Amino acid sequence: MTATASSPSAHESPSAPSLDPAAPPSLFAPLQLRDLTLRNRIAVAPMCQYSATDGLATDWHLVHLGSRAVGGAGLVIAEATAVSPEGRITAGDLGLWTDEQIAPLRRITDFIHEQGAATGIQLAHAGRKASTHLPWAETHGEVPLADGGWVTVAPSPEPFAADYPQPVELGPDGLRKVVDDFRAAAARADRAGFDVVEVHAAHGYLLHEFLSPVSNHRSDAYGGTPEGRARLLLEVVGAIREVWPAGKPVFVRVSASDWVDGGLTSEDFVPLVPQLRALGVDLVDVSSGGNVATAQIPVGAGYQVPFAAQLRDAGLPTGAVGLITAPAQADHVIRTGQADLVLLARELLRDPYWPLLAARELRAAGPVPVQYGRAW
Ligand SMILES: Cc1cc2nc3c(=O)[nH]c(=O)nc-3n(C[C@H](O)[C@H](O)[C@H](O)COP(=O)(O)O)c2cc1C
Repeated sequence: MTATASSPSAHESPSAPSLDPAAPPSLFAPLQLRDLTLRNRIAVAPMCQYSATDGLATDWHLVHLGSRAVGGAGLVIAEATAVSPEGRITAGDLGLWTDEQIAPLRRITDFIHEQGAATGIQLAHAGRKASTHLPWAETHGEVPLADGGWVTVAPSPEPFAADYPQPVELGPDGLRKVVDDFRAAAARADRAGFDVVEVHAAHGYLLHEFLSPVSNHRSDAYGGTPEGRARLLLEVVGAIREVWPAGKPVFVRVSASDWVDGGLTSEDFVPLVPQLRALGVDLVDVSSGGNVATAQIPVGAGYQVPFAAQLRDAGLPTGAVGLITAPAQADHVIRTGQADLVLLARELLRDPYWPLLAARELRAAGPVPVQYGRAW
């Protein structure tokens, strides 16, 4: 049972989702992925809150994620959630490496479902960008071992930047553990009630570090060629699909460009998309950057949307993210077939009710909670 209701008919108009089955979908058209139907094309992008204790979700996560479900998003994706303690960016990261971490997340997914939204969780390993201070701490970069930090791992023993930890190169046992940890975390995410698992292969964290020639200088089967560099990601996705229910979608977030000469470009992902599809991935969430501290990124409105369009042409539904802030802009991304889903991060921090206000602006039926009906 859901506690949502459509907004009054006065808000419906000719620009509401068309009845023509051949017409392109709008921002407020449902999206079907396997057995899951999202009520609209708006997703809350994963956003680290660094507010967990021992990886356990707290009331902060309930209110943070819950209020964005109340605000009308179709899918609420919980932040980068570490599959192992050494995979945390900071000591405040969410985790799913023990069964004790399931129950506090179940409370959150139950609440979000009551609001009529679907739930996702991003599973992550921070690789050489682990063991760092909270972003609002006075000190930045590495937390040394003596101060409670931990040994970090990477494809090659090269730090991300001068003030980051020196990582240890992953060997065969370490690689197997990474795959096993992602598989076990996905099984726990299912028990916690999540509808979508997103594999974090972006932003310079472990799986991106393996994909990128900037950070992967191995000469074994996990490096050397594009196929070798993609191996760990493909093994992780395969392991997740072993335990993740067939009716539930899997997303992969990628950084489609390293934004440096010699780094990954969106062209590198074109052959990878059909391989991800064959392994049971349902949507690629297309971000960029994060693997090179000095990269110059031409940030601007919707600057990553062309990457989402390119990878959609390569054979999978995509999510577009990055400086999408206006309802008409988001609607245009969907209506022009550049992506199937838009993910918003900072705009939804500023306004959790953005989807309801967007529905009003676009004259679509927004999922106004019955409790708030008198305001609409
Ligand atoms: C506070 C905050 C935390 C974030 N944490 C994550 C994260 O856990 N995983 C991730 O893939 N991206 C993370 N991001 C990046 C966002 O998901 C998003 O890709 C980025 O902010 C661009 O979207 P925007 O312009 O709508 O903010 C974070 C962004 C912010 C602002």
